[in-house]
Amino acid sequence: MKPPDKVLVTGGAGYIGSFTAQALVDAGYQVVVFDNLYQGHREAVPQAATFVQGDLADRSAIAALFDAHPDISAIMHFASYTLVGESMHKPFLYLRDNVSNAANLLEIAIARGVRRFILSSTANLFDLPVDQQGAPIREDCPVVPGSPYGESKYAIERMLGWLNRIYGLKYACLRYFNACGGTPDRGEDHEPETHLIPIVLQVALGQRPHVVIFGDDYPTPDGTCIRDYIHVEDLAQAHILAMEALDELGVRHYNLGNGQGYSVRQVIETARRVTGHPIPAVVGPRRAGDPAVLVASSEAIRRELGWTPRYASLEAIVRSAWAWHSRHPHGYRDRYAQGEQG
Ligand code: UFG
Repeated sequence: MKPPDKVLVTGGAGYIGSFTAQALVDAGYQVVVFDNLYQGHREAVPQAATFVQGDLADRSAIAALFDAHPDISAIMHFASYTLVGESMHKPFLYLRDNVSNAANLLEIAIARGVRRFILSSTANLFDLPVDQQGAPIREDCPVVPGSPYGESKYAIERMLGWLNRIYGLKYACLRYFNACGGTPDRGEDHEPETHLIPIVLQVALGQRPHVVIFGDDYPTPDGTCIRDYIHVEDLAQAHILAMEALDELGVRHYNLGNGQGYSVRQVIETARRVTGHPIPAVVGPRRAGDPAVLVASSEAIRRELGWTPRYASLEAIVRSAWAWHSRHPHGYRDRYAQGEQG
């Protein structure tokens, strides 16, 4: 019997990467995780995956990875710097490192015969002018990167276009809107944490006195920003569906969200209901670079690949995040202490 495909997951110790590595294991794939543990957690890597610690800036480490695993047949590329705000202060981490690390990986992978590639991309490609914000964002909306982070992902998307023409690389770019949620054993654990849902849950845990709402004077019904929150397990399934369809489809770009927007105040209100904690909130100034509304149209991937998010409501998503945060108030550090893994 032919062994299952071997999939390389770069950044597979990180938040979305580790959920996807687990989903690949559960679907019967062999999984190799390559991660420098800059943001990721060794304990987040599924036990059944092979873990290789290394950095994509180090070409000899990538070559050694392929020497050890010459049968890698597809790549899911998550490893990158991922913060919009940081990218406005440290643009070269994004414009240089994100792009050159992807180029290192792709050059070696293509030389070793890999022809299937899934890119972790972002809604930060769609920093539309204010008069165009609001309608669900389709794949054919104009790309206007909102930051060096978005620009770095767009540069990689364009690189992939050339590699398709020149080498026949088949690829999908998955542009996530607001990835969130967890399971009792796996969840969001960033240091520092900047994302709304984990911050709100840290207030419920008594780790912060309040959440600061970044502006309530946006042109939205309650004045706070509206986002499209999508569960990481649903994102993981989208990666597998896209990878399995690549031979047939060739090249695809998909926007991934629930298609429904919720305001910052609605997220806080939902977390109050789920946790039973009052979660004090204070209004602060706007955060630079935040668009008022970002909601995805994911009609294309639903129609073409039959993708259907399982966590369709904000309540279900926040409940799943709370399942993780309430059991692991200090994130993966709690798991190190308990000796749990994968
Ligand atoms: N927010 C607050 N207070 C906080 C944290 C966030 O009010 O303490 C607000 C933000 O202003 C924003 C919303 O909550 O309106 C969501 O913020 P997040 O930081 O959770 O997420 P972003 O929408 O800023 O970023 C997400 C992804 C990025 C991706 C981007 C696309 O994390 O990787 O969407 O625009 F690039």
